[in-house]
Amino acid sequence: MRMLFLGDVMGRAGRSAVAARLPGLRADWALDFVVINGENATSGVGLSPDHARELLAAGADCLTLGDHAFDQKEMLSFIETEPRILRPLNYARTAPGRGARVFAGPGGRKVLVAQALGQVFMKRPFDDPFSAVDAVLRAHPLGGAVQAALIDIHCEATSEKMGMGHWCDGRASLVVGTHTHVPTADVQILPGGTAFQSDAGMCGDYNSIIGMDKLEPMRRFVTGMGKERFSPAAGEATLCGTLVETDDRTGLATRVRMVRVGGRLESAVP
Ligand SMILES: [Fe+2]
Ligand SMILES: [Fe+2]
Repeated sequence: MRMLFLGDVMGRAGRSAVAARLPGLRADWALDFVVINGENATSGVGLSPDHARELLAAGADCLTLGDHAFDQKEMLSFIETEPRILRPLNYARTAPGRGARVFAGPGGRKVLVAQALGQVFMKRPFDDPFSAVDAVLRAHPLGGAVQAALIDIHCEATSEKMGMGHWCDGRASLVVGTHTHVPTADVQILPGGTAFQSDAGMCGDYNSIIGMDKLEPMRRFVTGMGKERFSPAAGEATLCGTLVETDDRTGLATRVRMVRVGGRLESAVP
């Protein structure tokens, strides 16, 4: 299968770029399955039902969230009605929705998608992501119950993300990081056959501070005092993500590429 994962969609700039470019990429690159992290799509904080519908209509098969999962309060109920949206596996036990699901891909192939939150440098402590992901992978063996497995590891520390990559090596098709909003240049296939990238990067305007208009974050860094709320930067977004090709028999990666399309960053296309 050929699958595309796009990192955190940041505000209107990110949503517009997804809407404008994804339908064409889906056809041009013959994508079988697309996952988008949508945790910042609505004003940079959370995902509203309307914006979730927009991303799904543009060609996403699944939307993942993150620490901002329920910043838009309507998501608390909407996630129960829209099975294509996943929140982190190890979010609060009482959280609505699910952290993993098996999706029907083309030709009857089954695709597992799961997301977990890291513990290092995150604002609040979440349950152990390693045991949470382990349980899901054991329940859905690659090359058996599912033909592909994509893990979104949403965390701050590259070390923890790499730990998750190696923890899942040979058991997932792709482990990709989200949350830092900057693409890392370490895309590779790990020794056991799992494709890995520490962070997919954001789909947002890179003339910014991690997608936010740069003035207010700079003011806080320089003076230690806030004046206004953060708002997403509005310039043209770069779509950033990871493209992985897998062997249907084993579910393991045969090829992986960084993707950067549009906006300020150097282009990278498979
Ligand atoms: Fe994010
Ligand atoms: Fe996040």
